Amino acid sequence: MDGNGRWAQSRGLPRVDGHRAGALAIRPVLECAAEIGIQVLTLYSFSSENWSRPVAEVDALMALCVEKLVEERDGLVRSGVRLKRVGLRDGLPTRVLDELDATEQATAACNRITLALALNYGARAELVAAARHLATRATEGSLAVDTIDEAQVSSALCTSGLPDPDLLIRTAGQQRLSNFLLWQLSYAELLFLDVLWPDFRPTHLRDAATEFAARKRTFGGVLPPTLSKGDPNPLSARTV
Ligand code: IPE
Ligand code: MG
Repeated sequence: MDGNGRWAQSRGLPRVDGHRAGALAIRPVLECAAEIGIQVLTLYSFSSENWSRPVAEVDALMALCVEKLVEERDGLVRSGVRLKRVGLRDGLPTRVLDELDATEQATAACNRITLALALNYGARAELVAAARHLATRATEGSLAVDTIDEAQVSSALCTSGLPDPDLLIRTAGQQRLSNFLLWQLSYAELLFLDVLWPDFRPTHLRDAATEFAARKRTFGGVLPPTLSKGDPNPLSARTV
């Protein structure tokens, strides 16, 4: 969800106002995602590298996170949204962890859509933690090294239990992954938009789903002979 700072700066506002506007953009997009049948919407909200921002901005982002979780919790339950925290616990303020835990618990039985909130998330840190976890189990004798396969690695990641994303949308012009879901995005379709996150609307998501549906995905194979360019994609966007 990139571009909050630029959105604010272009209006002569403090960056934190951009983060507030960005937070407001989430709910309609989440509702639209559920309507069009997306099973999992993952939002890259705060990276392990974002701690390097000025303390005041980091504090404002953490406070905003607490505020929104408290404010939105009942609404998430009512709309059937299951929250899943993605990222490392270590480093997050207790208050943020408490509200995340409470929201995960309150929404545990919801099954209309999963909102995966990547907070204090970095793919390299995640892979290091997964390697340590698997190595510890192997050392303890509860895991045979030659049984480690892709599924084992996937289940040692923060996104354990979630399908890999089908589509990545990055807003605000930059064309890079910024340490996001490096393992999980291996076969994702990538879409880079110039729109700043606070200006992102359901219509952008609908357009992205249409663009996704027109792409040919072969996962390293070849297209079935019955499909040619222009035919609808047999796979639909499930996870973004
Ligand atoms: C993304 O917006 C929000 C977070 C990282 C929390 P930015 O704050 O990176 O916005 P720009 O890139 O400065 O415009
Ligand atoms: Mg940015």
